[in-house]
This record gives sequence, structure tokens and C-alpha cells, in this order.
Amino acid sequence: MPEAPGDVVLYELYVRAFRDANGDGHGDLRGVIERLDHVASLGVDVLWLLPISPSPLRDDGYDVTDFRGVHPDFGSLDDLRALIDAAHARGLRVITDLVLNHTSDAHPWFQASRRREGGKDDWYVWTDDPTTYAGTRIIFTDSETSNWTFDELRGQYYWHRFFHHQPDLNYDHPDVRAEMLDVVRYWLEFGVDGFRLDAIPYLFEREGTINENLRETHAFLKELRALVDEVKPGAFLLGEVNQWPEDTLPYFGDGRDEIPYLFHFPVMPRLYRALAEGSVAGIRWILERTPPVPDGCSWVVFLRNHDELTLEMVTEEERTLMYAAYAPEPRMRLNVGIRRRLAPLLGFDRARIELMHALLMTLPGAPILYYGDELGLGDDIHLPDRHGVRTPMPWNDGPQAGFSDHPVPYLPPVDHPLGGYRSVNVAAQERDPGSLLHWVRALVRLRRRLAPIGRGRFSLLDAGDDRLCVFVHDARDAGAGQVVAVHNLAAEPVALDLEVGGGHRWRRVLAGRSEGPDEVEGGSLPVRLDAHGYAWWSSEAAP
Ligand code: BGC
Repeated sequence: MPEAPGDVVLYELYVRAFRDANGDGHGDLRGVIERLDHVASLGVDVLWLLPISPSPLRDDGYDVTDFRGVHPDFGSLDDLRALIDAAHARGLRVITDLVLNHTSDAHPWFQASRRREGGKDDWYVWTDDPTTYAGTRIIFTDSETSNWTFDELRGQYYWHRFFHHQPDLNYDHPDVRAEMLDVVRYWLEFGVDGFRLDAIPYLFEREGTINENLRETHAFLKELRALVDEVKPGAFLLGEVNQWPEDTLPYFGDGRDEIPYLFHFPVMPRLYRALAEGSVAGIRWILERTPPVPDGCSWVVFLRNHDELTLEMVTEEERTLMYAAYAPEPRMRLNVGIRRRLAPLLGFDRARIELMHALLMTLPGAPILYYGDELGLGDDIHLPDRHGVRTPMPWNDGPQAGFSDHPVPYLPPVDHPLGGYRSVNVAAQERDPGSLLHWVRALVRLRRRLAPIGRGRFSLLDAGDDRLCVFVHDARDAGAGQVVAVHNLAAEPVALDLEVGGGHRWRRVLAGRSEGPDEVEGGSLPVRLDAHGYAWWSSEAAP
């Protein structure tokens, strides 16, 4: 079968946090090169780098001051070129974060705009009346009380969907659109393999709307796609659209003219809800509400990322449940979400960590791993904002976790008995064949070997028992058989015979806390799962 968009597996890392090669306390591009074999060893295809351009780093680089450069703490353009070459040599593509919606307030464009200089008067969204666009939600609810901030120098308010130091660009201005398209061209010609497009629903504003997902935004993204197709056809574009599935779907366009990969935000919190409740109900609800994607496109799914675990796309009731189950202390919460890493969210419980990965790898869509989660790294909830989930990657149990030779790195490595670098680090897990790291590697490899996943027709099977989440990937049309992935969401054993249709020979290709034979004939799978157990079955022969 040909490569399909759902085959891809991604790895997300923050350059500042990964490995400090020059000993200045900040991770850098040379450091990523040094540790690229670790990334490649996970069997991933696409490496997504958080923003690397010059920035005061008040929002970890999502506050850009020069769209065409590399932050000096992270290295140089030559280092980036070397990283891309080293990645390509290992079969990895490199995509960078592209922050289209806004800049830092320290960006020379904003400084010119507030002074009404250099023809940049209207490059940002200014008003005398801060009741303009009143129907727009605030995203960073813990730090901002309005989407407008008064600028003393210009004597007007400027619009910002995120921090007040991140003014939104005015996409109604043709020069802004042309400039940002030129930035896209610049990086593609430089050699990056694509972009993770940050915060794209918010590019345009129109009075009387919620200022998200506007027609004008789609028109611009289509222009961007046309440019990408001209400069670098096949470049990898991943859009950050934190919306309900029906509002996200239009960003795929007709499948060829907008963004081919989009995060599926709302399914993520429902995986956690499913574990808390021991029931598939929430997963079923959101997947039933998820329309099929156009050919050539794919959802991108994740368990955690560099932000808070967002609870924007859930009901009030679900939010209450999630906070109670996963963020009992107020300092674990941020904005509308939970600022914790995967392993602490799951109580450092190996069974539940495995189960969540097994679900991730069999959801419809391309999965992302977030650096450190392959080890079960902990977090630091005493650090402000989202810093607690952006701490140094622990390479060993030496000083600064082997991340840096500097005595005071940009943030201290997590150091507590559960999930701290003294016990959770790459070197220790490399030595231990039973470690989570080895397990995650094997899981990714298995997913890649099972052709139906990511390509076959996906369905959620009703097992007649809501404690079970059963995903089916059916590629019999293409002669590639089926995969049935059975997951026990409950903290108690489940036993039943699962009807999957007759006439097959099934092989159990993955088992965790699961009893029973490795092969069965016929249309019924013997499900014998302990608490949080899982078993994947594959039938390669078409019946
Ligand atoms: C990124 C955040 C960032 C925000 C503003 C987001 O969606 O993921 O980390 O703070 O955009 O750029």
C-alpha cells in the first residue's frame, strides 16, 4: 500500500530544553543534533521544533522579534541547516513552529506601528474603542482580562488574542499578508520540511463575530497553501486549530487546497476522562461527532504537549470531572486547563501510561510524542505558567541530568522521587530492557508495521461493555487485513468474547495485562484483560 498521511508519527521538542551543547545553560540546535539518534530510535518520521526565532522568550519563542532568524541562544542558521541535514540522513523531516497570528511587542514592526512610522501604522489592529469585537473570548484567562491593551505612545488600544505583549498582526493589510507569505517562502527555500502553524483560527477580525474561523482566514490559508505547493510541494503542514471537529474540518479545505494535518484537540481530554470513569462513553461521543477527513489529509492526535492540557473543548460537567480527577490542587491548573505532564497525570502508573499510549497509537490519525513522555518524566508544578512541563530532558543521573555543563541551566531538571532525573533518565532506561523507553519504541515500530492503522477504515466497535474501548482499522479493501485494538479502561478485570466477524485467523500482536492464546481462528476474540490491560489483534489475510 502507498504511504498514507495517517502513517506518520511525530516527535515534539523544545530546543531550549533538549540538550545544551555549548554549555551556556540553554538547549541549542547543536544539542539536538547530538541527540538526534535518540529521536530517530523512537521510529518517528517528523520532528517538530517549538519556535526557534529571535524572541525575548516571554512566551518561549511564540513572541517573535525576527521571523527570518534563529535565536542566538539556540544557535545560528548554519546550525539549523546542519540539523536538517543530520535529520534527513536519519530519515527524519524537520518542521518548525510558524507564529502567523502575532509578534512580540518588541518586534521592530510593532515599535514602528506604535510610532506610526515606516508605513507600518496599520500592521497591527488598533482602536480608540476597546468595546470593539466584544464577542471574542479570552484565551489566557489567568493572565489577561481583555483582548485590548492601551499603548501610551500611540494613544490607542491594540488587539491581542494571547499575552498583552503579543500584538496580533492585521491580516487585512495586504503588506502584512505579503510579508508573512514571504516568511513561508524564505523557510521553505532555506530547507525546512514544513511548519506547525500556530494559532491559525484567529488571523482576521470582523465585528459581530467571535473572530475565529472566519472566511477571510480560510482564504489566506489557501493562499499560503498555494505558495507552499509552488515552492515545496509535499511540505508538511500541521495546523493548530483548537476547535470542535465540525469547525476544524474546513481547515482541510477540499483536501488539496488548505492544511493537510490538523490536531484533533477535543478527543484528547476524553481519553483522560475515559480512564477516570472507566468508560468509553466520552470517546464514543466525540468520535461520533468527528466527520471523515478528505483523502490525503489526517488528524494528528496527542496525549500531552508543551501547553496546558486544554479543557476548552469539553462540557462544563467534563471540566469539573477532569479538574477533580487530574488537578486537585489549584496550582496544577492554568487558564482553562491542567499544566501537568503525562506521567504525573497518571500517577506514574505504568499500566495506565501504557494504556494511554496504546489508545494514542490506534486512534484515527497521526500520533505525536512529546519529549520526555517516552520516559515517564515528571513535572514541576512550582514553576510558573507552562514552564513546569518544559524542563530539561534528563539524559542521565549526573549533574543537570546530563542536559548541560552549566551549573545553572535555564530551568532546573525535575528532581523529585517520582519522575525526577535521578531515576527517570535516558541512560537508565537504555540499560533496562523493561523500561518505558524500550516499550514505547517497540510500540511505535509495531504501529508502523501494522498497515491497516492509519490507512484502513476506522471504527469504534461496540463491545457491549462500556469498560472496553475497541478500535478497528479495516484495510481489507486494499488486501491488508484488519487490526482490532482492545483496551480495558477500567481498574478491574474484564472478560468477554468479542464478536469481530467470521472467517479470520487472528494473531495477538500486542498484549499487556492480557491472558489467553496468541492466535485464534474464527470471528470471536477471547478478551481476558486485567485492570487497564490491552490487546491488539491483527488479521492479515483478507477473508
Ligand atoms: C502555543 C502556545 C502559545 C500561543 C501563543 C499557542 O497555541 O501552543 O504555547 O503560547 O500559541 O502563540
